[in-house]
Amino acid sequence: MPDVTTGAAAPNPHLAPYEARGLKGRILSGVQPTGNLHLGNYLGAIRNFARLQDDYECLYCVVDMHAITVWQDPALLSSQTREIAAAFLAAGVDGTKHAIFNQSMVPQHAQLAWIFNCVARLGWMNRMTQFKEKAGKDRENASLGLYAYPALMAADILIYKATHVPVGEDQKQHLELTRDIAIKFNNDFHAPDFFPITEPLIFGAATRVMSLRDGTKKMSKSDPSDYSRINLTDDADAIAQKIRRAKTDPLPMPETTSDAEKRPDADNLLGIYAALADMEKDAVIFEFAGKQFSEFKAALTETAVAKLGPIGSEMQRLMKDPGHVDKVLHEGAEKARAIAEPILAETYKIVGFLKP
Ligand code: TYM
Repeated sequence: MPDVTTGAAAPNPHLAPYEARGLKGRILSGVQPTGNLHLGNYLGAIRNFARLQDDYECLYCVVDMHAITVWQDPALLSSQTREIAAAFLAAGVDGTKHAIFNQSMVPQHAQLAWIFNCVARLGWMNRMTQFKEKAGKDRENASLGLYAYPALMAADILIYKATHVPVGEDQKQHLELTRDIAIKFNNDFHAPDFFPITEPLIFGAATRVMSLRDGTKKMSKSDPSDYSRINLTDDADAIAQKIRRAKTDPLPMPETTSDAEKRPDADNLLGIYAALADMEKDAVIFEFAGKQFSEFKAALTETAVAKLGPIGSEMQRLMKDPGHVDKVLHEGAEKARAIAEPILAETYKIVGFLKP
């Protein structure tokens, strides 16, 4: 709120403790262990997790409770949970400095989620596009958990009073809901500033990576065609084959940004290249303007293999050592619980629950 006398924005009380330690805030982000971790997850989120870790205190969570909002085979769920943790580590997140853990090991997420179920309004939930997409036409048969999914996501974030959340663009609506829940809780319970108004961190040249088979559709874990995505565990041959078969149009490479924007398949590949090569998209367009797609695809393959290959092999190596991954998860959960417990206790007091 602006200061009435000076008009300047009041300092954010949630940021002050981090700023005092030379940090920019506290991050929480999550990834579902639902298989086929792909280039979109990496460029939109996981790569940024590692890039932010020197400036923020970070909690990175494998959201196994979100995963079961649609049916998951129990044995697969366990191995996929370890695989996501392995991906965080392989991407460079320091699990000794930050917390890497799975959601179900920290019961405070579910406890706060119940309170948020009672704060969030049905009208808000009805507007969530991800529910509509996931439930599809058979809405009556969707789980209650899938409907309440965004309230649990708000709890994931606010149980740590996280100030920032790095995600891909598809999570923007959920983060707006998180802000609405925080504002309503703070107002309803006359607890000004209790929960922070979390800032999304959506950045990089590929905040929304599209399918390699259809540049108008998001790259997704659930697409039935494996050719639609590059998985983080794909080897060099698979990456090369998928890029070779990626959909393009019959024209040469776009010459300008506005030309690229009208051609979704080309635009998507240009964004992927820019993100992998750490370049601005405009610079990539300039470099390949008017050239044949075959030339561009060869360069894209080389960059993708060089950047993703080491991550895929490190993931495979870590997956052969589940004991180590479990240790990281247990230690991470312990750190996370130590932060979550007092925040939940304070929340319970505000709500009027008697002390256990
Ligand atoms: P999930 O598991 O679907 O995706 C994990 C992260 O990957 C990003 N992402 C993409 N980014 C760019 N292009 C794409 N094609 C693409 N596909 C996925 C997502 O935006 C996300 O950042 N609801 C979340 C999980 C979650 C969460 C949280 C995230 C649960 N609680 C709290 C942040 C904070 C989800 O389903 O992500």
